[in-house]
Amino acid sequence: MSNILEINHLSKTFGKNLVLKDIDFSVSHGSVISIIGASGSGKSTLLRCINLLETPTSGEILYHGDNIQSRNFNLTSYRGKVGMVFQSFNLFANMTVLENCIIGQCKVLGKGRKEAEEMARMYLDKVGMAPYINAKPRQISGGQKQRVAIARALAMEPELLLFDEPTSALDPQMVGEVLSVMRALAGEGLTMLVVTHEMAFARDVSSRVVFMKDGVICEEGEPDQIFNNPQKPETRDFLSRFRNG
Ligand SMILES: Nc1ncnc2c1ncn2[C@@H]1O[C@H](COP(=O)(O)OP(=O)(O)OP(=O)(O)O)[C@@H](O)[C@H]1O
Ligand SMILES: [Mg+2]
Repeated sequence: MSNILEINHLSKTFGKNLVLKDIDFSVSHGSVISIIGASGSGKSTLLRCINLLETPTSGEILYHGDNIQSRNFNLTSYRGKVGMVFQSFNLFANMTVLENCIIGQCKVLGKGRKEAEEMARMYLDKVGMAPYINAKPRQISGGQKQRVAIARALAMEPELLLFDEPTSALDPQMVGEVLSVMRALAGEGLTMLVVTHEMAFARDVSSRVVFMKDGVICEEGEPDQIFNNPQKPETRDFLSRFRNG
């Protein structure tokens, strides 16, 4: 399988705090990778380095073999190809649902308004948000906001979608609607890198699970191995807290 991303010896420090230590990791086309781990283990920082919201301290991130930090790398195009869905939705509050899904296509991809709107409507329909296209974010629920954020990301037709705890800010009754959209996307073959505390999602939907602890990848493998036969005591310890909670 071809790799979309390859991460080699990635490290990140904040001041004296080494939060990612020598991370090696790759994302192949069509895979769904869940990243699990305790708070502070570096999961968000890893995603933020991948889309260059943070600058890696050392190591390299290759996108189809090209270093994303090299001077002649086309970052704008990369940002269109690698989308991100945040815990806190990050919708534009003053724009309607529809406008939220149009603006990136026009600004980043240079699409015309008509084509962008068609795409936006198609993906809003796909996530069940077609009836709300004229609403403002404050008028819809958290689960609906997150579905709009996913539609907005999909409208860019990304090659890889990063999710940083997309359901953590939601009331429990809204978690299911967002996870079911994500399950459907995984089923359609979208490549996804998902930081999550939803262990059932990680177990049932992922092709690979990465367990992070203290800035390193402690263990990674197929869900069956990680959940049913973890090799490292740290992985067992982390998962036992979920089983008992
Ligand atoms: N901008 C920053 N400046 C300084 N330290 C930071 C910054 N961002 C993250 N950190 C630190 O890096 C470490 C890893 O944080 P990160 O947010 O990546 O963890 P996480 O695994 O995503 O945790 P959570 O599950 O709580 O979201 C933490 O110790 C955090 O305090
Ligand atoms: Mg985080």
